[in-house]
Amino acid sequence: MRVLGIESSCDETAAAVYDTEGGLLSHALHSQVEMHADYGGVVPELASRDHIRKIVPLVERVLVAADVDRRGIAGVAYTAGPGLAGALLVGAAFGRSLAFAWSVPAVGVHHMEAHLLAPMLEPDPPAFPFLALLVSGGHTQMMAVEGVGRYRTLGQSLDDAAGEAFDKTASLLGLAYPGGPALARIAAAGDPERFRFSRPLTDRPGLDFSFSGLKTQVMTRLREQMEMHRGAHVDVIESLRADIARGFEEAVVDTLLIKCRRALKQTGYERLVVAGGVGANRRLRARAAEMGEATGVSVTYPRPEFCTDNAAMVAYTGTWRLGTPDVASSGLGFGVRARWPLEDLPPVPARPP
Ligand code: KG4
Ligand code: ZN
Repeated sequence: MRVLGIESSCDETAAAVYDTEGGLLSHALHSQVEMHADYGGVVPELASRDHIRKIVPLVERVLVAADVDRRGIAGVAYTAGPGLAGALLVGAAFGRSLAFAWSVPAVGVHHMEAHLLAPMLEPDPPAFPFLALLVSGGHTQMMAVEGVGRYRTLGQSLDDAAGEAFDKTASLLGLAYPGGPALARIAAAGDPERFRFSRPLTDRPGLDFSFSGLKTQVMTRLREQMEMHRGAHVDVIESLRADIARGFEEAVVDTLLIKCRRALKQTGYERLVVAGGVGANRRLRARAAEMGEATGVSVTYPRPEFCTDNAAMVAYTGTWRLGTPDVASSGLGFGVRARWPLEDLPPVPARPP
């Protein structure tokens, strides 16, 4: 089955074609990062308008790159939530209209299920069951995954998501939006020992996360250090920022991995998947791989470009979801879900590999 996937939940417009036999045939993405940078974050109305501008050329491009025409597409999958309602509506309206015009089925895909299944796009996909650490800009969740649509939430963030904590901390450090990758870049040159921030909620049982306090710790430490180094040479300030960034990154990565070890022990699972935008973080990937080697757990993550938002994961998820009940839409009508718990998704029967 060959599926066209469309992603427009936030600030990336993307399209892809996935074939259950041939794998990923094509994918393309337009990032709105530059457009939102002046505002320090995503402006929902601008995001929606830009999705409208980019969606048609992107879909045309992936069809040409995959060397298929409309007759070669068996269904259209688009992200129906969670995300920005206006942005989601662009992909949903376009995806469903296209499917109607082409007389093929359409399905609204859950964005976090797509992140969770993204490792399946890689050459050595994990077998079920596995533990999934989903770390994106809007969500931080520890999921027990027994199959497609068979998810149990073991823990989640009580406040800021991991990516949100990266972005807010980056902004405190004076880094431009989107802060996560920029913070990781300066942290690479930082000293991991100079500043130690806490590992929130690791001193008590449970698998929930809380990252908002870390940002406050960074703010306090930064103020105090800037005061101490007032008038210092620019290099001193640069290395101060790098060291703080590194201390923060270590705290987040450590916290995530402490909880992963705990969840692996609790479930008895032997496979861990790390997915979502923060899964592109090099330090997290390296430390997760080290943990895997030390414990015998197999650790899988998507390639970095499929950790962050993309349509390849949406098209792939569509190959499972087309033909199952569409919980967001019916008939000619369609809906999107700005909020949508993963556990609300119906299970999908296993299919032959
Ligand atoms: O999954 P994603 O692309 O979008 C959402 O579904 O939210 O995740 C975006 C988040 C942002 O907060 C971004 O700063 C963070 O992922 N991120 C990173 C890195 N790359 C992206 N955080 C830390 N290190 C990175 N290398
Ligand atoms: Zn995402």
